[in-house]
Amino acid sequence: EKSGYEHFMLKEIHQQPETVADCMRGRLSHESPYIRLGGVEEYDKTITNARRFIIAACGTSWHAGLIGEYLFEDLARIPVEVEYASELRYRNPIIQEGDVVIALSQSGETADTLAALEMAKAKGAMIYGVVNVVGSSISRLTDAGSYIHAGPEIGVASTKAFTGQVVLLTMMAISLGYKRGRIPNSYFHKLITELQNIPGKIEKVLQHEEQIKYIANEIKDRHNALYLGRGFNFPVALEGALKLKEISYIHAEGYPAAEMKHGPIALIDEEMPVIVIATNKSAYEKIVSNIQEVKARKGMVIAVVTEGDEAISKMADYTIEIPDTEEPLTPLLSVIPLQLLSYHIAVMRGCNVDQPRNLAKSVTVE
Ligand code: F6R
Repeated sequence: EKSGYEHFMLKEIHQQPETVADCMRGRLSHESPYIRLGGVEEYDKTITNARRFIIAACGTSWHAGLIGEYLFEDLARIPVEVEYASELRYRNPIIQEGDVVIALSQSGETADTLAALEMAKAKGAMIYGVVNVVGSSISRLTDAGSYIHAGPEIGVASTKAFTGQVVLLTMMAISLGYKRGRIPNSYFHKLITELQNIPGKIEKVLQHEEQIKYIANEIKDRHNALYLGRGFNFPVALEGALKLKEISYIHAEGYPAAEMKHGPIALIDEEMPVIVIATNKSAYEKIVSNIQEVKARKGMVIAVVTEGDEAISKMADYTIEIPDTEEPLTPLLSVIPLQLLSYHIAVMRGCNVDQPRNLAKSVTVE
């Protein structure tokens, strides 16, 4: 069942070129209607004219939701709030007709997410589900939704479900941006082409595994790690840190790179590995200066960079290259090396990668 891989997690990381393609299959084309998400037609108007989106999720799915916020705001100009389901359900949130609540869940069984949806539904919002497990409780509760078609995810640490969720949200954002007249035709087609190229580019990232293993060996005995990213890649920093802590038990934190100055920079010394996602074109100079700040305090910098990058590669202790793509799509590539890094660190530390202590695959109690 592990198809020759040592762990399910490793298999699932390597399946991503296919699972991402499966998520797009039959849904994406250069011919009208361009992006077709089954199950949405009936609610097309409600979604296209939504006053705002509220994304509700937990854990890794919440990180995918944060990327969704950047995507929907940037491409479709729809206001978005991303909520931890556990907080949303116990607040007295302002949710009304015209709001669309998007639930993100791999298992479709997460108790807090389910309860948050029930509450939002009672307040008159439309509920849209982005779920992996077919027929799960959340998929049955929603008004409409799209499966991500990632196939069974067995490793407790979510990997291919995360990229599936991000691809789905990306397709939604591009489609809405087009329908709402927020993105020019040429950019729209460029994004479709680039999305279609993502599976092949993930394949290329996976080819850097040996180098990632080498880096894993350099940081496997550290007690802490910091992950930094900006813009679309800030949620990827959070996700990289979560992947590391949950399976290797190394304490890790993710931060928006510029927030470092407001506290975490005090932690940086020669003992602190700092993993920087440095692929953003729009904030390149700013990331360069964030890296300089880390190096000035003797931190060890591991940078995820765009192929051919020179400036950052010179400053960083280690670099991992990912192929160039449109900036809104970079999380689909930049998260891959972070998944592999965590996996190899955990294996080197002798951890039970597929079944980390204290964690369950479906969190059906609050
Ligand atoms: C982390 C992880 C968890 C889940 C979270 C939500 O790798 O797997 O953080 O993402 O428990 O689960 P779902 O997506 O099933 O609602």
